[in-house]
Amino acid sequence: MNIAVVPGSFDPITSGHLDIIKRATKLYNKVIIGVVVNPYKTPLFSLEQRVNMVKDAVRDYKEIEVFSFDGLLVEFVKMHGARVIIRGLRAITDFEHEFQMAQLNRKLKPDIETVFMMASPEYAYLSSSAVKEIARYKGDISGLVPPNVEKTLRDILG
Ligand code: PNS
Repeated sequence: MNIAVVPGSFDPITSGHLDIIKRATKLYNKVIIGVVVNPYKTPLFSLEQRVNMVKDAVRDYKEIEVFSFDGLLVEFVKMHGARVIIRGLRAITDFEHEFQMAQLNRKLKPDIETVFMMASPEYAYLSSSAVKEIARYKGDISGLVPPNVEKTLRDILG
């Protein structure tokens, strides 16, 4: 079984994440989404909210499973019998951080490969932080996030 893991903070999941996840289902039999417990920055949404928003956004895809994880990504990947980590790349600014993470993950577990997928042009400018900022100032976020996330953002940010 060809299994890939798509990890992230998903604070919240955006249309850009979804695009990468859906494209990954065309390449792998099973796609596991790993929502990190402690993202680098303090999240706006709780872990439960982030997981539920992801689950809701991918509910029509039988080949996608959603879990949260704490600790090292490579251990989560191994636990699920996967050997591939998928990351989306938007611009050159993503590269340095992604390169470092991929190299560190390879050092930790040489059998696990990081595969990069280029963001589709329509989402190349999109990020969870930008979406939160636009929503906070009551800008239009339709199309930038799945409808369930748009509703949740409106509910909590007013
Ligand atoms: O959506 P993000 O915030 O870019 O995702 C970052 C993530 C979750 C992939 C990264 O922070 C991560 O892998 N965290 C788990 C801890 C870990 O394994 N660190 C070592 C790799 S640098």
